[in-house]
Amino acid sequence: MEVLVASIVPVSAMARISRPRCQAKRVCVVLVVLVTVFFPLLSFLSTFTSEGSRPLTDRHLQAKKFQRSDPVQFPVKACDCKSERNARQAEAERVIQSLETEERSKAFEKIFTTDFWGGGESRSGPGSRIDYTGNVRLLVAHALKDYRVQHVLDAPCGDVNWQPLIEGFNSTRYTGYDIVPQIIQKNTERFKDFPNVDFARVDFVNTPITVNPDLIICRDGIQHNSLKDGVRGFVNLEASGAKYLVTNWHTETGRGFVQDDNAINRDIKFGDAYPINVFTNPFNFSMPEYFISEGVNGINQDGKLVGIWKLPALWKGDGKRFNVPPSLSSRVRGEIISKSDVKTALA
Ligand SMILES: *[C@@H]1O[C@H](CO)[C@@H](O)[C@H](O)[C@H]1NC(C)=O
Ligand SMILES: *[C@@H]1O[C@H](CO)[C@@H](O)[C@H](O)[C@H]1NC(C)=O
Repeated sequence: MEVLVASIVPVSAMARISRPRCQAKRVCVVLVVLVTVFFPLLSFLSTFTSEGSRPLTDRHLQAKKFQRSDPVQFPVKACDCKSERNARQAEAERVIQSLETEERSKAFEKIFTTDFWGGGESRSGPGSRIDYTGNVRLLVAHALKDYRVQHVLDAPCGDVNWQPLIEGFNSTRYTGYDIVPQIIQKNTERFKDFPNVDFARVDFVNTPITVNPDLIICRDGIQHNSLKDGVRGFVNLEASGAKYLVTNWHTETGRGFVQDDNAINRDIKFGDAYPINVFTNPFNFSMPEYFISEGVNGINQDGKLVGIWKLPALWKGDGKRFNVPPSLSSRVRGEIISKSDVKTALA
């Protein structure tokens, strides 16, 4: 740079002296040589680095060009403040969600490692015992066959105590999601010889589903989260593109932990539990295609039922509680009841 500046100032000065008043011919020749050969040569040499004769890289030359050009010609990029703010907000949301996942994960880890729900046979709670799930397996097997299901996603899958006994389990692809890493580790080890079975540690409340199931089982999962997370969970499951959903709900109040109507869809902190009714606010599910009572011999404390929905189901209903018609209440304990059975019973 210095060479360059030095080369410009004396040239114009000398040019002024030299023009018509050039008296000594020799002085003129020297000036001409300086202007036409020596200074351009110096300037040219200055484009080589001091490390030797290695030419500058393209990036260096580009940088030099910027230094030499007029400052106002620099490409001035206007701040796209709105999109920048949106990007920051999306980033904040991601950070918050991953913190939430870790917090939720710890709560469920504790429940699992201490058998907090007292399942005994299953760390995932009494609702996962073999004797309790006879009707649930009946319903899922019916769906696998009736809807020619190829791929089931079970979220949350827990310790997979009852699922392998579903008729058709071995000829269906099965993916189990759970938030607790130890559960996923144990399941992966236990099912390592089953080519149709795989597991992943996924917090389905916060994470988009990346597999393509035909049917999702989401049983006894939503009701251990806040209502907001429950809604987010259902939204994520539906966004997977699955056609069917198996989930459960509580219908009768005044029994077991469904003490009263106020308990239904009560907001809680994750790890706790509330009696869920998917037909009412904030879920407002449509009618299921089929359903049956859960529990040993279809009888349980809380009037818990399990159904199959065609998706989308979320916000497709009128928000009114669905009660099993009295004429079906004994049948539903041992038999799959369809939507048209309900219509007939109500007619
Ligand atoms: C699936 O296969 C496993 C291992 O071969 C077997 O123990 C289990 O009973 C089978 N399940 C069904 C529902 O047939
Ligand atoms: C659910 O339905 C009830 C009753 O119709 C309505 O007041 C409420 O806004 C609905 N909730 C949602 C989230 O759509």
